[in-house]
Amino acid sequence: LAVADFPQLSTVGGSVCGQPSGLPTPIVVARLAAGTVIAVDSRCTHLGCTVAWDAGNQDFECPCHGSTFATDGRATLGPATSPLTTYSVDDQGATIVVTIPVA
Ligand code: FES
Repeated sequence: LAVADFPQLSTVGGSVCGQPSGLPTPIVVARLAAGTVIAVDSRCTHLGCTVAWDAGNQDFECPCHGSTFATDGRATLGPATSPLTTYSVDDQGATIVVTIPVA
């Protein structure tokens, strides 16, 4: 991701949600701090709704039934009990590289 194309990722708390070609579901990419960016599969592990990053609570939240997930993907509030899939992120400054393993 070129930060110039997604300027919200240059701000702490900023996030983007989008679906890379070849993936069945969108991913959420969020900046936690300078030099720290995280990425997860947006599909809630309860029933598959799309989670969103909440910068105020510093977690991912599902709008359907209220599950929440920590920055490491761990479910912190049910009904979901399984973690979100997380992806490796390399914050290179002007570019953020998210590595998605081939299934
Ligand atoms: Fe996310 Fe139910 S689908 S909590």
